[in-house]
Amino acid sequence: MSFSASESVSPALVSPDEISLEKLSSSPPLKLGIMASGTGSNFVAIADAIAQHHLAAHIQVVIYNNPDAPVAQRAQERQIPTHLINHRHFSTREVFDQQIVDRLREADVDWVVMVGWMRRVTQVLIDAFPDRMINIHPSLLPSFPGIRAIEQALEHQVKISGCTVHIVRLEVDSGPILIQAAVPVYPEDTPASLHRRIQIQEHRIIVQAIAQLIQNRLTPCRQ
Ligand code: GAR
Repeated sequence: MSFSASESVSPALVSPDEISLEKLSSSPPLKLGIMASGTGSNFVAIADAIAQHHLAAHIQVVIYNNPDAPVAQRAQERQIPTHLINHRHFSTREVFDQQIVDRLREADVDWVVMVGWMRRVTQVLIDAFPDRMINIHPSLLPSFPGIRAIEQALEHQVKISGCTVHIVRLEVDSGPILIQAAVPVYPEDTPASLHRRIQIQEHRIIVQAIAQLIQNRLTPCRQ
């Protein structure tokens, strides 16, 4: 099974604003499963876009792995079902991922959206949702994949950084790129200040990426 990005996706470069979010609200809702480990600001951006009828999507469930993750409360405040799957309670990554797959399937999810998911995925998840998982990462991939992306960018003294939404593949932060947005990096930046600037763009492009999925109704190519 493979994903023909060049045929099915029209990747936006830096400014994906040309997609009409309003136009997309007439499509049947895309059933989303969110996977998150942290604060949940990207989740909020998605949930707000749906609530404001800018995205024809529905969040079926939020899966989180950290009991203290604020994303859980933010989802519960919006009456969105949450499910804690604590990776510390599983012997292997594969068993952990199988539990996630079971919950996502129970929730009848079409597409999986990773927003701040900080665990490596295994073939178990990839096979369950082939080419139907997207991830947001705080760098201009392929630069600075993995953890400490923002710190790495500052250590390399890059002048431009940004964020990327891509299809999830087994290798960390790889896979076809759907949308990127760039931000300037200033000499006085700290990881926190650069992350704040990047997150403003993340909240835009994660919504735009889901809009692309709705618009293109991506279907995996079976071989
Ligand atoms: C985001 O900046 C996202 O890009 C990053 O975690 C943050 C989550 O923020 N993801 C990764 O680093 C994954 N490699 P949020 O919880 O406020 O959405």
